[in-house]
Amino acid sequence: MRGYKKRKQKWEGKNRKYELNSAREATIILTVKNTLELLGNKREGEVLDIGCGFGEIDLLLAKVTDFRITGCDISENALGIARSNIKQADLAGRVKIEEGDVYNLKYPDNSFDVVLSFGYVSAATYPGVQREVARVLKPGGVLVCDFINCLSFYKFLNTFARIIKRNENPYYISAARISQEFEKAGLMFINQRFFNTYPPINLKMDSGVFFTFENTIGKVFQNFLGRVRLVSFQKFKP
Ligand SMILES: C[S@@+](CC[C@H](N)C(=O)[O-])C[C@H]1O[C@@H](n2cnc3c(N)ncnc32)[C@H](O)[C@@H]1O
Repeated sequence: MRGYKKRKQKWEGKNRKYELNSAREATIILTVKNTLELLGNKREGEVLDIGCGFGEIDLLLAKVTDFRITGCDISENALGIARSNIKQADLAGRVKIEEGDVYNLKYPDNSFDVVLSFGYVSAATYPGVQREVARVLKPGGVLVCDFINCLSFYKFLNTFARIIKRNENPYYISAARISQEFEKAGLMFINQRFFNTYPPINLKMDSGVFFTFENTIGKVFQNFLGRVRLVSFQKFKP
């Protein structure tokens, strides 16, 4: 696959260090909470998490559901840490961690009930990969993936810089654009959530402070404060 080595090298560098602070902990919990809300009453079946990183989201998801989860990632460093996190939690029976590239997934067509992908600019939202992501989903299956909320107050400068540099996928900007792009790959926009509304500060605070913010001011202004836009899509049935 063209560009594979370069992509892998970039992420090996980023995934060298593992650190779990309270803001990160809050993000993991909020990601799982909002994902489960978008999944309705789906709590069992085969799940693929593309770009699973250190596996913490899969770990929490496995604890609160009956899903059988496969996490895949392009980075050996991330995979090593993810495997050790899963082993430590004694969840290796239900969570598999494997090497995988979103541009060329090794799974047969129609393999998964749910496909997930997280990380602000998640792997499933990279330009041109939506058909490959849809291919491994069963018809009627659900994709939940996240985007930067370009309209978030905290992301104003970031969005402005991206527009000036023209280095952002245009379909990140609104639900309508996202829907238009994903529909081309047979993925129908279903619903969305905004979260991570707490101020992006590096102070050492208990994750409870982040939840308090999220459940009060953040709840009222979620569309304008939330840095994450989490979207669910359903694969069209033939
Ligand atoms: C921002 S991190 C997010 C990690 C995790 N999903 C989370 O939310 O904590 C993005 C992850 O995607 C992985 N990744 C990047 N490009 C990828 C690709 N082409 N295929 C699969 N994974 C990829 C990276 O190695 C990295 O671990």
